[in-house]
Amino acid sequence: MGADKVTVAMTGGATGIGAAIRQQLLAAGHRVIVVDIRDADVVADLSTAAGRQQAIAGIQALAPEGLDGFVPCAGLGPHVQPHSLVTRVNYFGALATIEGLRGLLAKRKGTVVLVSSNSASMPGLDKRYLELLKAGDETAACAHIDTLDGHNAYAGSKYALTCWMRRNSAAWAAQGIRMNAVAPGITKTPLTDTATQSADFGEAMKAFAASVPVGRVGQPEDIANAVCFLLSPQAAFICGSVLFVDGGHDAMLRPDAF
Ligand SMILES: NC(=O)c1ccc[n+]([C@@H]2O[C@H](COP(=O)([O-])OP(=O)(O)OC[C@H]3O[C@@H](n4cnc5c(N)ncnc54)[C@H](O)[C@@H]3O)[C@@H](O)[C@H]2O)c1
Repeated sequence: MGADKVTVAMTGGATGIGAAIRQQLLAAGHRVIVVDIRDADVVADLSTAAGRQQAIAGIQALAPEGLDGFVPCAGLGPHVQPHSLVTRVNYFGALATIEGLRGLLAKRKGTVVLVSSNSASMPGLDKRYLELLKAGDETAACAHIDTLDGHNAYAGSKYALTCWMRRNSAAWAAQGIRMNAVAPGITKTPLTDTATQSADFGEAMKAFAASVPVGRVGQPEDIANAVCFLLSPQAAFICGSVLFVDGGHDAMLRPDAF
């Protein structure tokens, strides 16, 4: 971030990548307002409409002067059941908070950095699920995803959220709000620790971790570095972009697509 002290709100700051983002912002002297289901300035459950409203109202109460940044980082992994809980938090929770904070972000020409995933661009995602997410039909999307698998729930939610950001980045930029996304690869956090122990995803996670081109999995600080850069004035001309922070996995898997 730049030298000026700013106010950044974020979700999912209690553990993992979010905790590293919070720590870096605080270390740079910025003010951080954390929303999480626990250990937060605003305790709220982003899987519910009431919790999302509580999150928005809580941030509004703490920063009525407006926001310089917002990082919707809260998320659940592909191993979480029911799959619709992943959809509710990762897509509808993130989207509701971004949209709900638009006024506060406009007041200070703030910046949004979404936390996507490099799994979002993997091929073969269920088209009907993506259509229902795009249409904003939470009830139907949740009913549909509960008939599918965890990979679709997770990667589809990240793909749809990232597409939403790209579709809306020009209109929001006209209001002075820059939006971008980071797409982390496999990163050591409580989420991946649990997924690596799960029956459904354990083996795939281990194989994925062993195949990262730079020879290691990410650390939360690797992702926080990129988020803090995109929040900063140094990134002032970056808008609507997706920055892969994945040790080279996306380039390895999709060399001709970018
Ligand atoms: N770790 C990875 O390999 C990886 C890779 C790509 C993307 N991501 C994304 O990074 C973000 C952070 O994940 P992480 O790996 O640090 O996991 P994590 O489990 O350590 O952190 C997730 C955070 O979200 C919060 N949260 C979960 N459900 C919530 C709810 N209903 N309401 C409010 N808060 C809730 C948790 O309490 C926690 O603080 C997620 O969006 C995840 O999808 C992670």
